[in-house]
Amino acid sequence: MHVSVLGREYPRDSQTNITSAIIHKLDRRLHLQPSHPLGILRNLIESHYPTFSAFSDMSPVVTPARNFDDLSFPLDHPGRSVTDSYYINKDYLLRTHTSAHEVETFSKGHREWLLTADVYRRDEIDASHYPAFHQVEGARLFHDNPNGIKEIEEDNARLSAHLASSNIIIEDIPHISASNPVQPSHDPVKAELVARNLKLSLNSLILHLFGGRASANEEEPLKVRWIEAYFPFTSPSYEVEVFFHGKWLEILGCGVVLQSTLDRANVPNSIGWAFGLGLERIAMILYSIPDIRLFWSKDSRFLEQFIPGTISTFKPFSKHPPCYKDVSFWVPSTGLHENDFCDLVRDTAGDSVEDVKLIDSFTHPKTNRTSHCYRVNYRSMDRSLTNDEANAFHERVISRLKEDFGVEIR
Ligand code: DAH
Repeated sequence: MHVSVLGREYPRDSQTNITSAIIHKLDRRLHLQPSHPLGILRNLIESHYPTFSAFSDMSPVVTPARNFDDLSFPLDHPGRSVTDSYYINKDYLLRTHTSAHEVETFSKGHREWLLTADVYRRDEIDASHYPAFHQVEGARLFHDNPNGIKEIEEDNARLSAHLASSNIIIEDIPHISASNPVQPSHDPVKAELVARNLKLSLNSLILHLFGGRASANEEEPLKVRWIEAYFPFTSPSYEVEVFFHGKWLEILGCGVVLQSTLDRANVPNSIGWAFGLGLERIAMILYSIPDIRLFWSKDSRFLEQFIPGTISTFKPFSKHPPCYKDVSFWVPSTGLHENDFCDLVRDTAGDSVEDVKLIDSFTHPKTNRTSHCYRVNYRSMDRSLTNDEANAFHERVISRLKEDFGVEIR
C-alpha cells in the first residue's frame, strides 16, 4: 500500500489522509505562471524587494520537523493534527505554511529573502477557503553589532520619509507590550528597531500593492491596521489587516524571529524579522476575484484576462445556477470532523462544489447520538451542472460516508 506523490512512492500508514484531489494540485505551480494573477502578484512583490533573493521552487513535501519543530510549535498544537493537515504518512506532510522553509533558507546563508510556494490545509468549503493556497514568506536579518544597528536606523529613516508623503492611514500599536513581549535574549532597544523596520517595510509593500486601489474612490486613503498576534516562532508578533469594501481583511502575519530559530539555522550574532502573506487573499482584493476556486480554473475566459505586470479588474463570466443537496446522518461514535466531510466532498465533486454548510445539529435526548445535516451547493464555475450530475455526485458522497466512515444516513 503506497501513495505516489510528485513521482515518489511513500508507504501509507494510519496517518495518511492526503486525497487524490489534493495530489492533482501539486504540479499546477500557479505562482510560476507569468500571466496568472498569482504569478503577476509574486512578481510585483519580488520587484518591491530588489535586493532580496527570491525562491519559488521548493517541494511541498516536508517533514513535521521542518513544518513544526524547527519553528517551536508545541507538541499539542492543533496544526499538527490529521484533521488540520495533509499527511502522506507519519514522516511527511504537505507544508501548511511557507515558514516551513525558514530554518533551511537561513542555514544556507541567505539573510534577505522571499520564498513563494503553494501550501495546504484541511478546511471548510466556501468562496474564500480552499485546501490549497499560496504564501510569500519574507525575511531579513541584521548583524547584531554597531554596523547592523546603523543599517536598521538608516533604513527606518528612509522608509519613514517615503511613507510620510503617501496617502495611507496606518493604525499602529506599540511595537512591544506586556502581552507582546520582547524575547528574553534580546536587547529591547534593538528589538524595537527591528520591529519598527518590519512594520515600515510591510507598510511600504502594502502601499506599493494597494495604493489607490483599495476603495472605489481613488482619492480616499488606504487604511491599514496592525494588531497584536501570537505565533510560536516570533515575538513580538503582529497581523496586518486592510480595510476593503467596508471590512477589515487579514492579509499577513509577521514578527521578530525567535532566536531559537536562528540558532537552529546556525546563524550567529543576528537579529531579524519575518512575514508570511496570503497571495489569494490579496489577489482577490486587488483583482476583485469573487471565488477562490477561480485561481485553479483552466478556463480561457479566466486565464486570458490577465497581463504580466498589470493589476486589472476581473470581469466575471456568467454564474451558473446553484444546486443544493442535503445529507443528514448520525455522527459515528468515533466522530466525524467537519474537515473530513469537506475533504470527502472535494475528493468526490472537485471544483464543482462551491459551498458546504452545517445547517442542523442535535443530540437525541435518549440515545445521546448526534445528528448532523450538511447542505452542499454543487455549482461549477465554467458550465451548468445538470440535476443528474449533481445527484450523481451527491449519491457518491453518501455512499462514501457509509463506506469510509461507517456513517448511518437518516
Ligand atoms: N506562517 C504563518 C501562517 O501561515 C504566518 C507567519 C507569521 C509567517 C509570522 C512569518 C511570521 O514568517 O514571522 O499563519
